[in-house]
Amino acid sequence: MEEITKLLQEKILTEGSAKGSEILKVDSFINHQVDPAFMDLIGKAIADHFSQQGITKVVTIESSGIAPALLCAKYLGVPMVIMKKQPSAILNDHLYHTEITSFTKKTKYELTMSMDYMNENDHVLIVDDFLANGEAATGAMRLIRQAHATIAGISVIIEKSFQPGHEKLEAQGLDVYPLVQIAALEDGKIFFKD
Ligand code: G4P
Repeated sequence: MEEITKLLQEKILTEGSAKGSEILKVDSFINHQVDPAFMDLIGKAIADHFSQQGITKVVTIESSGIAPALLCAKYLGVPMVIMKKQPSAILNDHLYHTEITSFTKKTKYELTMSMDYMNENDHVLIVDDFLANGEAATGAMRLIRQAHATIAGISVIIEKSFQPGHEKLEAQGLDVYPLVQIAALEDGKIFFKD
C-alpha cells in the first residue's frame, strides 16, 4: 500500500465520520478546513503518479477540488484551470458549458470553462476531492473535449467504491487514480477497500 493511502486511512479514521451509508464527512482537512501540509503530500502523490505522461494542465471543479489540484499542478510545473459552477455575470459569452446532474445533492448545475485556457495542444489531468457517481468528472471530460484537448486521467483524494463512478470512467478508457478507496459506510463505521 502506498504511504499516502496509509496516511489518508489514518486521518479518515481519526477525523472523518460516516453520515448514514452514503456520505463521508471530512470537513476538518478537506471540505471546510484544509490541512495545507497534508494537502501538499496529496498533490505530490498525484503528480508523481502522472509525472511521465506529458500533462500540460491540471483541471478541477470548484470548490473542494482546488486545493489538491493546485498542489498537484505545482509539482507538475503546469497551470491549474478551475471549472466553474457559477458563470461570471460579465464575459460569459466565451465559455464552454455543459449541464451536470448531482446525484448526491439531487440538483442540476451548469459547469463552464473559458475558451482561453485550453486548446488542442493540451493533455489534461482532472483532480477532485471525491469520486462518487462520476457525474462531475464526466461533465469535466465533456468540456475538455469541447476544447479538443486530450485527457490523461483523473485522480481523486477519496473514492467511494460502492458508487459507480470508477467503473463508469474506466469504461470510457480513463486512467482512474484514487488515493484512498472506501468500500462501505455502515453503522457509523468506515471500511476501506483492501
Ligand atoms: P459525482 O460527481 O461523483 O457524481 O458526485 P455527486 O454529483 O454525487 O457529488 C456532488 C457533490 O458532493 C460534489 O461536491 C462531491 O465532491 C460531493 N460528495 C459526494 N459524495 C461525498 C461524500 O461522501 N462526502 C463529501 N464530503 N462530499 C461528497 P460539490 O458539490 O462539487 O461540492 P464542493 O466541491 O463545492 O465542496
